Amino acid sequence: MKVVDLFDLVIFGGTGDLAMRKLLPAMYRRYADGQIPPDSRIIGVARTRDTDESYRDSVRAAIAQHVKNADAATVESFLAMVHYFGLDATQDAGWSEFEANLKSRAGRVRVFYLSTSPSLFVAICNRLRAHGLNGDDARVVIEKPIGSDLASATVINNDVASAFDERHVFRIDHYLGKETVQNLLALRFGNVLFEPLWNARRIDHVQITVAETVGLEKRGAYYDNAGALRDMVQNHLLQLLCMVAMEPPASLDADAVRDEKLKVLRSLKPIDQNNAIISTVRGQYRAGASNGGAVPGYLEDLGKPASNTDTFVAIKAEVDNWRWAGVPFYLRTGKRLPARVSEIVIQFKQIPHSIFAPSAGPVAPNKLVLRLQPDEGVKLWLMIKSPGPGGLRLQEVPLDMSFAEAFGVSQPDAYERLLLDVVRGNLTLFMRRDEVEAAWSWVDPILAAWKTNPEAPKPYTAGTWGPSAAVALIERDGRTWHDADTNDA
Ligand code: BG6
Repeated sequence: MKVVDLFDLVIFGGTGDLAMRKLLPAMYRRYADGQIPPDSRIIGVARTRDTDESYRDSVRAAIAQHVKNADAATVESFLAMVHYFGLDATQDAGWSEFEANLKSRAGRVRVFYLSTSPSLFVAICNRLRAHGLNGDDARVVIEKPIGSDLASATVINNDVASAFDERHVFRIDHYLGKETVQNLLALRFGNVLFEPLWNARRIDHVQITVAETVGLEKRGAYYDNAGALRDMVQNHLLQLLCMVAMEPPASLDADAVRDEKLKVLRSLKPIDQNNAIISTVRGQYRAGASNGGAVPGYLEDLGKPASNTDTFVAIKAEVDNWRWAGVPFYLRTGKRLPARVSEIVIQFKQIPHSIFAPSAGPVAPNKLVLRLQPDEGVKLWLMIKSPGPGGLRLQEVPLDMSFAEAFGVSQPDAYERLLLDVVRGNLTLFMRRDEVEAAWSWVDPILAAWKTNPEAPKPYTAGTWGPSAAVALIERDGRTWHDADTNDA
């Protein structure tokens, strides 16, 4: 495993949930695998009065909670590279010391992870610029929510651009760091088999499901203003759709890939007041059962008597270009669904003519299922002759490549890969400004159409696959949702 260049990683919002749950455990794992030069530093920045020692205590506890079987001695040597700096992004006090501290270690990559409210981005970026910390060795990382519509996303992007050149801006969509998403690139572009079939002549439709069992998780303040369309579809599901639908890029260079994704986003058929009713379904969970126990409904979780926020959304999307004309992309995502499962299903067309007798049984069309989580893997469903004597009967079987079983490796968390890609300066798996804005340009008219439609989100019982209208959305077209519940992905 290749060691990355020496770096300082500064996490603004260093005591926050993301830092403790994801970023620091991810850095620990990479450290334990020997990929991080020991002279590197991770500096948590926040407004509290922590010290290096008290901050390390919190990080130690976070690692104990989020990393299985962490080795005590390795944790201690990792903690030696962890520091704390108390700083208020909106005040000048302390910034000169902060600058001096960073500049005392020259010749290293400087990563600034803005794990704060977007309202602080402009203050932080301005001060980083004023203190000369936005040079060529600097990288800034931002995360969703990048705005709540096109206008607010543009403001955030402008704020960041006032200090950092686009080639230094790393917009994280952690779905792009998931193993199977990169495997999609390998499958599509590392094999000759798929490309001739990867089009409207051979593919009937595509399904992308990102189902969660969790509910609101104390995130009411954010989530109730967002909803599933903004929280999941605008970013994660559209990015997955782009990876499936894009043309082969000329190389894996960041802009080659991002140019192709952008073209897909710009080819999405608009959904607005004219067709939102038939092309989208929004839902909101009610009390039910999840993870083996009774759970309250969204409004009880939220503690408000009313809210029109969508906790489920299903969309029939279309990519209006030559390759995909007439091939629907059915997207669905929701909270409090029966299983935590994310997968992409490429459903091929039926064979043009069957030579088999009815007694052979039906010929199921081929299907390629990419499972992102859990049990990452790829299955290609094929028809074979049912083994053994007797007449010729057909049977559908998967060519199964479950990564954990096949390779005996545990998959790194998306953040491990993405954080080290930031250090390496590799932008391929990060969203470019124009992609984020194109995604909002498609989502905004859907939000506007929902707003003008007085109908509330359709209720669904927690622990079910969303409102029945989501089933109707696909069944109207003579298709069904792939059964993600079972482990036959
Ligand atoms: C986040 C959303 O981006 O992704 C959350 O804000 C969601 O609402 C999460 O729970 C899902 O990520 P993962 O990796 O657990 O599928």
